[in-house]
Amino acid sequence: MTDNIIRFIQHGKIRELNLQKEQLPPTTTVLNFLRQSPLHRGTKEGCAEGDCGACTVVITETDPTGRLSYTAIDSCLVFLPMLHGKQLLTIEDLRKNSAGSDELHPLQQAMVDCNGTQCGYCTPGFAMSLLALQKQPVTPTRTVIEDALTGNLCRCTGYRSILDAAALACTEKKQKDDFDEQEELTLLQLATLRQSTADLSIAVGEQRYYRPVSLNQALTIKKNESDCMVFSGATDLALRVTKRHEKLHKLLDLGGIDELRTIENDGKSVRIGACTTLENLRNNLRQQYPALCEMLDVFGSRQIRSLATLGGNIGSASPIGDTLPVLLAYDARIELQNTAGKRELPIKEFITGYRQTALQPDELITAVILPETNPKEIVRSYKVSKRKDLDISTVSGGFRLLLENDTAVAITLAFGGMAAKTECATSAEAFLIGKKWKRETIEAAAALIRSQFKPLSDARSGAEFRSLAAGNLLLKFWTETTAKS
Ligand SMILES: Cc1cc2nc3c(=O)[nH]c(=O)nc-3n(C[C@H](O)[C@H](O)[C@H](O)COP(=O)(O)OP(=O)(O)OC[C@H]3O[C@@H](n4cnc5c(N)ncnc54)[C@H](O)[C@@H]3O)c2cc1C
Ligand code: FES
Ligand code: FES
Repeated sequence: MTDNIIRFIQHGKIRELNLQKEQLPPTTTVLNFLRQSPLHRGTKEGCAEGDCGACTVVITETDPTGRLSYTAIDSCLVFLPMLHGKQLLTIEDLRKNSAGSDELHPLQQAMVDCNGTQCGYCTPGFAMSLLALQKQPVTPTRTVIEDALTGNLCRCTGYRSILDAAALACTEKKQKDDFDEQEELTLLQLATLRQSTADLSIAVGEQRYYRPVSLNQALTIKKNESDCMVFSGATDLALRVTKRHEKLHKLLDLGGIDELRTIENDGKSVRIGACTTLENLRNNLRQQYPALCEMLDVFGSRQIRSLATLGGNIGSASPIGDTLPVLLAYDARIELQNTAGKRELPIKEFITGYRQTALQPDELITAVILPETNPKEIVRSYKVSKRKDLDISTVSGGFRLLLENDTAVAITLAFGGMAAKTECATSAEAFLIGKKWKRETIEAAAALIRSQFKPLSDARSGAEFRSLAAGNLLLKFWTETTAKS
């Protein structure tokens, strides 16, 4: 069954949007859609590329325990059909209660009480990030509050008073609000939407947009129309619309396929559905794969990680894709499927060149498989960037080491930002095997790393810095592993 009408909840009611009738391209972002209406101008555009958070809105869905989950996202990176089956909350929905009162929501009141706003351009975005934070089941610590606000920039007020407002509203004075009162109704509405959710197929002018709900249907579309641009979270793809103003003709949105969002553990490996968001991974895999989660701690912002998927980071095959070195270190395998069946490739073979992969035109990335880790092995990840938060890597590393009698018996040294693709420092790896894990050996290996790679100079850094930093990351790894062993 296919449908061409997007259904989502807005202001407490199920809204139906027929893009064809409205002559709205399916690549219209939620931000632009909102701002076309005089009633929704509270959501602001600062950058249109996921950096400032002025466009933050909250999406609610039903979580696995049957309660509502609240997620802050950047509406400038979200296409309208991606709202299908969800509730959209904007700053206009924030108020104390539904009895028609104009009183401020406790979050807004906290911003006022703590002097958390001046020009106010950023404030709606902060308030929406705080709403998602306040609805988390666990009371946030200061670190969690800071992390939740990483994706919101303020150029006037400074962050201290905003953080104070967050602490006041999300911890000390947390109180029930209109959304809590309406939760049962919202859950019912979401269930109704779910029952009627079919494959979306939208045609507006020359644009076709598919959002299937099953993997089989997605594979069939990919087989029949291999020129479809596939996407999951759209945090890479949407920039082609918002920054390069490209008209994308055929799109296959994998975001509606539940079976691509599962994390399964069979005791020998963990199979991560390609459309699992990075924030979900970060919240669920820390114990088993800490180095991956540490990399995710400094990946974009919470708004970005709540959209961005593991399949998308791998599919982009960027030389500075942050999960890639650490996935190499964990020896990840990539599962690919087409209508004929599935195959698996080690990630090393999957990434073939600058933004190039072994993916065939009729295939999709369906999962990433992480083998169980050997408790004797040490795996670490490193990211060097100009800013700690919300910045892309200058150089990154994913390292794995097995020591026996203080001698390296197995080692992987994978680097991002040093070549056209994520690559291992093979000469240093070969040199280190069988050698004592001591400073002189490490310094010699660092020199081999510097001579193997010929990195680029670009706006982020000069080649010389990159070479130096890559070698120094090995020294840092040695320092940390030596302290531990
Ligand atoms: C503000 C901002 C900050 C960012 N920060 C970082 C950062 O710190 N580190 C970093 O590495 N990246 C960063 N990125 C880039 C981006 O968020 C990541 O690459 C992200 O993982 C992409 O995932 P996605 O699901 O959004 O990808 P999408 O945009 O949906 O897709 C990206 C590519 O992968 C392909 N693809 C997606 N899913 C599949 C699939 N299942 N099968 C086949 N192909 C597929 C698509 O065809 C497309 O080419 C940032 C982006 C923004 C906008
Ligand atoms: S407008 Fe800046 S993050 Fe969306
Ligand atoms: S109050 Fe002006 S940008 Fe934050």
